[in-house]
Amino acid sequence: MAPHRGAAGAGKRLPNESEKTMRRPILAANWKMNLGRPQEALEFVRRIRYALNEIDTVERVLCPPFTALTAVAEALTATSIGVGAQNMHFEEKGAHTGEISAEMLTGLCQFVILGHSERRAAGGALETEMAINRKVRAALAHDLTPIVCVGETLAQIEKGETQSVVSDQVGAALDGLTSEQAARCVIAYEPLWAIGTGKAATPADANRVIGLILRAAIAVRFGEGVAQAVRIQYGGSVTPANIASFMTMPEIDGALVGGASLKPDYVDLVRNAAEAAGRR
Ligand code: PGA
Repeated sequence: MAPHRGAAGAGKRLPNESEKTMRRPILAANWKMNLGRPQEALEFVRRIRYALNEIDTVERVLCPPFTALTAVAEALTATSIGVGAQNMHFEEKGAHTGEISAEMLTGLCQFVILGHSERRAAGGALETEMAINRKVRAALAHDLTPIVCVGETLAQIEKGETQSVVSDQVGAALDGLTSEQAARCVIAYEPLWAIGTGKAATPADANRVIGLILRAAIAVRFGEGVAQAVRIQYGGSVTPANIASFMTMPEIDGALVGGASLKPDYVDLVRNAAEAAGRR
């Protein structure tokens, strides 16, 4: 399946070798609403942490549900594996029942996934473009690294809207940041039809959207240096078997992994990613 065929980024070019900078690949495990009981999270982390810790040529981050953040953070203290949350509120504190602020996450984790499509699809005032932008700013203000998710629907691809949709999403999410702040963000490009479906995008299509559309949108706002420094992951049905094909692509700096990150062979996925990244 090649839904980005043709239209995406037509007329633009990928940067040449001298324009590329060294971006350390980052593999982030999005557990979603799974392994949330501290004991089950701990059991899983204990199974994978030794092997995962060894694969240190790529950055590794585990993103459990809030309820397991403390347990996972403690289990990973002596390792080089990072921890991330899956969402947060943009306000510091106050009357926001059930919400978690950036301040509450500091000390527990270093990353936070923001604007995931499953949250955007659920709708509401906390997942508008403006709310996601406020979350990005709040995360950065507390030294958390945002993993900002963007991606288009199948209907938008078919209408040839990929470029405008993902450019607008990334532009809105990073609006008002300094160049230094923008460069610290991680972007996850996740075409919606590929999430949890077992049908990944082709590596060439993902590479094209990331290189020609997302980096271009960042370059327009923050300059080519920032565009080349920002790490941009691919997400959507990544597996131990297909990760290498994404990692050998020059524009793809890692993956945001859902379902495959819940299995012990996630270690193989990360190992395959690191090996493939070393070849590019
Ligand atoms: P998936 O999920 O790997 O299960 O497709 C990816 C994501 O939603 O981040």
